[in-house]
Amino acid sequence: MLEKLEALYQEALDALGQINASDALTEWERRTIGRKGEVTLLLRQTGQLPPEERAAFGKRANEIKNLLTTAFAEQETLIREQELARSMEEGQIDVTLPGRVTPRGHLHPATQTLREIYAIWAEMGFQVYRSRDVETDEVNFELLNIPQHHPARDMWDTFYTTEPGVILRTHTSPGQIHAMREYGANGTKPIRVILPGMCYRYEQITARSEVQFNQVEGLAIGRNIRMTDLKGTLTEFARRMYGADRRVRFRASHFPFTEPSAEVDVDCILCGGEGCNVCKYTGWLEIGGCGMVHPVVLQNGGYDPTTWSGFAFGIGPERITMLKHGIQDIRYFWGNDLRFLNQF
Ligand code: DAH
Repeated sequence: MLEKLEALYQEALDALGQINASDALTEWERRTIGRKGEVTLLLRQTGQLPPEERAAFGKRANEIKNLLTTAFAEQETLIREQELARSMEEGQIDVTLPGRVTPRGHLHPATQTLREIYAIWAEMGFQVYRSRDVETDEVNFELLNIPQHHPARDMWDTFYTTEPGVILRTHTSPGQIHAMREYGANGTKPIRVILPGMCYRYEQITARSEVQFNQVEGLAIGRNIRMTDLKGTLTEFARRMYGADRRVRFRASHFPFTEPSAEVDVDCILCGGEGCNVCKYTGWLEIGGCGMVHPVVLQNGGYDPTTWSGFAFGIGPERITMLKHGIQDIRYFWGNDLRFLNQF
């Protein structure tokens, strides 16, 4: 049997040396060292030999199998190289062709604007505070000085859940209460945060209004915060966001959670105040609401309104993105259309 093995080894080695195509190589492997190959089968018969011959035969058979396996790998490399060289000569592989491009995603335009906003506020010392999307009626309205049945609730069309008293937040303002209660240490510590996030409103979807959109709320609480701080800080933000020589104006307004309240405008970033169809020929663009935190809200956040004060604001990043890129329809934002998204 040992002779048979040696003969087989020589034969296989000769045959291997003559192979020059990869399918013949695969066939050789199957026939000799494969699971049902001749060498493998012979190796399996070791047990049938008289006991005194088994060890020597098994050792040699394993040796031969290893030698053939190594020779096979070498021949395989050789054939691969030859085949590659051949097909390049024949022009089957054009190495000058550009490779396949792997498609790569990028940030959504709304996220890009959000990150720009975070960076500006971070430079002014405002931390990001993330508040929940699913809110209670109490925090979304009541603690913000908007009681049940108060007509001010008409400002926010609400999505209710099947759980009584649980709604989708209609604005990021309820985060003010959470931030004050969590960071304020029972009304003893100042706060400077921005609160970004999705808001939800049960509205007719049009080019100008969506049922979901982002807001970035801001809140500063301290011992001597005044309206002038609010005006200076928001003016600085508007200039960093829209350009150093932007004019900023504050119009008196009303929000239940601030007193006094205002709306903030910048001069139109497209026409510079001359009047165009983006600013509807007024020269101004509204960027958000703001005001001094109402004493009731301070109290609900754990602060004593006789010694603490603060300002708050809310801006809409989608609106900012629309203005910046001349996007005419807010529905593109959550439409998931790559023809839109790829432009940013
Ligand atoms: N929450 C308001 C809204 O959704 C926006 C707003 C106005 C936020 C004034 C504020 C603020 O913090 O002071 O319309």
